[in-house]
Amino acid sequence: MVSKTQNQDWHPNIWPPFTQITNSKPQQEVSHGKDALLFTKDPQQELIDGISSWWVTLHGHSNEYIANAIFNQAKSLEQVIFADFLHPQAKKLAERLSKLTQLERLFFSDNGSTAVEVALKIAYQSWQNQGETRSQIIAFEGAYHGDTFGAMALGERNIFNENFDNLMFPVKRAPWPSTWINDDDVERKENEAIQKLITLLKVPTVAVILEPLVQGAGGMNMVRPEFIQKVSEVVKNNNSLLIADEVLTGFGRCGSLFAFKRANIIPDLISISKGLTGGFLPMGITLTKEKIFQSFIDESPRKTFWHGHSFTANPLGCAAANASLDLLEKEPLKYMSLEKKHFDHLVKFRKLPFIKKIRITGTIAAFDLELGNKVGYLNDIGKKIKSLSMKKGLFIRPLGNVVYLLPPICITDDQLEKSYQIIWQTLNDL
Ligand SMILES: Cc1ncc(COP(=O)(O)O)c(C=O)c1O
Repeated sequence: MVSKTQNQDWHPNIWPPFTQITNSKPQQEVSHGKDALLFTKDPQQELIDGISSWWVTLHGHSNEYIANAIFNQAKSLEQVIFADFLHPQAKKLAERLSKLTQLERLFFSDNGSTAVEVALKIAYQSWQNQGETRSQIIAFEGAYHGDTFGAMALGERNIFNENFDNLMFPVKRAPWPSTWINDDDVERKENEAIQKLITLLKVPTVAVILEPLVQGAGGMNMVRPEFIQKVSEVVKNNNSLLIADEVLTGFGRCGSLFAFKRANIIPDLISISKGLTGGFLPMGITLTKEKIFQSFIDESPRKTFWHGHSFTANPLGCAAANASLDLLEKEPLKYMSLEKKHFDHLVKFRKLPFIKKIRITGTIAAFDLELGNKVGYLNDIGKKIKSLSMKKGLFIRPLGNVVYLLPPICITDDQLEKSYQIIWQTLNDL
């Protein structure tokens, strides 16, 4: 068979994620990483990891404290079937996360998509277990919740999932009132979104799911905490459940330990992953209120939550997560201080006429570029910026025309300054 691979630099046995190899640069080999830096070979280069390796690396690469916690755990217990056995790291993690979120029950899985799938399945079945059949699910325009079928169905329908359109269940959508610095129209947009949500909620609804404060993959679209508060209120008043997908926003990313805390709400279910293990190991957790768990307690097998994964509550992942929480608790300033630092750097970007919608929430800073041909993710200006920035020592991965920084919280002031200088130079070179 004739290979359609155009570029022989791609590895012949690897199928890279989210990539069309005919128009992308081949993966570069990384020899090691330390703190906010990645070190590549061929060419040998030191790169600032400006997006925390797909938003997971929290305290930096190869953090010794977390590495030692995993090493020590591996010497005593690496894996055990969680349906029959408990282990100290899972107990400790469950107790800590439950205390921090005020949600009493934790269900372990493997990644962000599964943490969302589990939340949705629990919400759906909990109504059935209480004798009520509901099918309407509400998500927001521009949402992204993962790539497995359920999570994919919750996300905005677009080029990434249109091939599977016939296989996805229907989801109702409310507008997402994205805002930015100096946005005069924010209240009108929020009111419109809330009115739409109230109308949709007239139909008994399984759950409303959102990414609190920041929609990540949809384009780093940020909303005010006030909006999240209003959504929570409306969901409660209409007797539905609120699922907070904190896969990206959790663990300090939005300037508070969890984004929902900044909005001063308590969701009914929360999905977490990515930064959960400090970005060291794949793990997902779905947290729920005790009341929801209680609706599954019954002699009838039909009321059981028949769901589980081989690596549920893997001891190495739990050890990494406990170590990561230790670090977050020891130095909360690391995630709390980045918002102001981003702001101080971004102020001067306002001078560039093609930069629009500057926005910052916690450790995440973004803006839109009014340049390039297509709208959204397929605008190739992002690829150009990525390539030029890499040559100067910064790894970023714009979402089409949305340029953003989401660095590990250990990034030094000098490294952050250098990152902004590189973006500035790159934009001026375009
Ligand atoms: C908000 C949100 N939910 C879910 C996911 C899916 O997580 P994973 O890639 O670990 O399956 C992502 C991934 O980017 C995400 O940003």
